[in-house]
Order: sequence, then C-alpha cells, then structure tokens
Amino acid sequence: MQRPITPGSKNRFEIIELPRAAAGHTFADDVLEGLSTSPKRLASKYFYDDLGSSLFEAITHLPEYYLTSAETEILRDWGWQIVRVLDEPVDFLELGSGSAVKTRLLVGEALRAQNALVYSPIDISVDALRASSSAMVESFPTLTVRAYAGDYFTVLKSGGLRFDRRVLAMLMGSNIGNYTPAEARELVKLIAEALRPGDGLLLGTDRKKDPAVLERAYDDPTGVTSAFDKNVLGRINRELGGGFDLRSFRHIAQYNEKRGCVESFLESQREQNIAIDALKTIVHFRKGERIHTESSYKFDDNDIAALAAGTGFNVSHVWHDKGKRFNLHLLVKG
Ligand code: AVI
Repeated sequence: MQRPITPGSKNRFEIIELPRAAAGHTFADDVLEGLSTSPKRLASKYFYDDLGSSLFEAITHLPEYYLTSAETEILRDWGWQIVRVLDEPVDFLELGSGSAVKTRLLVGEALRAQNALVYSPIDISVDALRASSSAMVESFPTLTVRAYAGDYFTVLKSGGLRFDRRVLAMLMGSNIGNYTPAEARELVKLIAEALRPGDGLLLGTDRKKDPAVLERAYDDPTGVTSAFDKNVLGRINRELGGGFDLRSFRHIAQYNEKRGCVESFLESQREQNIAIDALKTIVHFRKGERIHTESSYKFDDNDIAALAAGTGFNVSHVWHDKGKRFNLHLLVKG
C-alpha cells in the first residue's frame, strides 16, 4: 500500500503516497452539486490551485490578515518551550506541508533541544511536499523528512503513519477553522487515534474578537482576498470551460456571531446565466444571489475545551501573542 516515490536526498527525504480519497468527489461533481443547490456553495478546498495558493501566500503578508504574523510571534517567543514541554525527544507530524517560516522556527528549536528530528508533513500536493521538504533537509543536516501525500483524513485513517518516538503533531495557521464543527471534531479525534498516550497536538486557532477586525482580515483594502475568493470562479472557467465574468461578482466577508465564524461569499451583481461546458449545464443567478465559499471559525479557550472533549485529548498548555489575537493550544493525549 505504501510506495516511496522519492528515493530521498541522501536518504533523509522520502515521500510516501497513500491512496487518494474514494473516487466520485471530483471538482466537477462538487461544482455541479454546489451550484445546483440553494443557497449555492463551493467548498473552500477548491481555492488552492497554483494561482490560489500564490494568492493565499500573498494574504499572509497583508497587515490586515494578522493571523500569520501573530502565530509566528508566538513561535518566536515560545518555540523553545513548546518543543520541550513533552519532556522527551519528539518527532513532528504536521498536517499541511508547513510554512517556510513557522515550521522552520520549530524545527530549529527542536534541533537545539535534541540531536535529530524526523519531520512528517501530510499534504495533498506532492509538489508542495517536495518543495518545502527538500529545502528543509538541505538547511538542517540532522533532519529526516518522511512526508505523506494524501488528504488528512485518508492518511490518518490508513494506519500507515510510522513513529519511533514521542510525537508532537501540529495543525497550525487556523486551518482547523475551515472545517465545520463536526468535521473539526472528527479530524481532532482521528489525530488522537493516530497518536500514543503522552503525544501532543499543537493547535493554532484565531481568537474571537471585534467583528470589524475580523471582517477587515477577510476583506482587505488591497483586494487580495477578493481575488483569492474569485479565483475559484476563474478555476471553473479554466478547468471546466465555465463562462464566469469575475467582474460581475463581489467578494463579501461577514462575521456570523451565532456560528462564531467569518463567512465569505461571492455575490452576483446582476441577473445572469453562466454556461459551464464540461458540466453541460447553465447556472442561473439572481441579482444579489450569493455563493458561500468559505467559513473561517474563531475560537476562544472554551471552544477549544469543547473541541477537545471526548476526542482523547486534554488541554495542557496555551500560548498567545502579545495582542492576544491568536491561540496556540497544546492538547495531550490521555
Ligand atoms: C487557510 N485558512 C486558515 C485561511 C482562513 O483564515 O480561513 C484561508 C483564508 N481565507 C481568506 N483569507 C484567508
């Protein structure tokens, strides 16, 4: 079932490709389904083609999108403690292939505390894994990368993860916030099941705060987030022969107090019919009709306690940036 597809950079780098999620959930299927229902929706995982990933990278540099800099601040200030708190040499399991800056900070700190480290990122994109991991083994001579290509749920359920030591798993960048509460709980539970008692999960989440601050973070004046959101329509045009005029849609970000999340929408500025050739369909939009494209959940300490409850994890530590905008919680498996 496991197939190393990269022999490794001096035997310190391998990518293990696990089976993809069951067939039947293609981009085309999900677009057809999402644009045929009411209210219309497109899943946020479809933002991330090459252009969308570059636009997201640009978002992380926006002053209004404070999440990345706040989390980086916590890692700079507290990384030394985070890598030592489990009290034994650790190996890393990261959901996502990691950001150059944040993961490197923790890898650097771990290698100050212990001689060697195995870093296991999980990512759907083999290209992203190859790019981030090969650079990492070049920079850290005592680092080994054992990467897993696949979606988180498939890899975690596969039983194919191998660890020899205490594990510090990481799910950072508020990535958990893009799942529904039920999916988030299932994901945390699956992570717990893949770990042993005493292993930890470092969970980075954005805190609840003034809705105006949250809405600005998701609707920046430069327009990068609007471009990121509209790119999903561009992707339908490129990959499925869609006829969307991106200028006829407006990006909207609204904090939903009841749900505790920022909701993003694309709103049609006129009544229109859009042909999507590969789907052999024409989609009708009313003026003002919206497509829901993303929910970004926000978490205070109670929300994290509720998320951890019943998953097998206990909340052990929490670190914040100085402005208390972002959380890093350490959950330890009981
Ligand atoms: C990747 N994810 C955690 C981002 C978020 O904050 O929900 C995606 C994003 N959407 C708009 N800006 C950033």
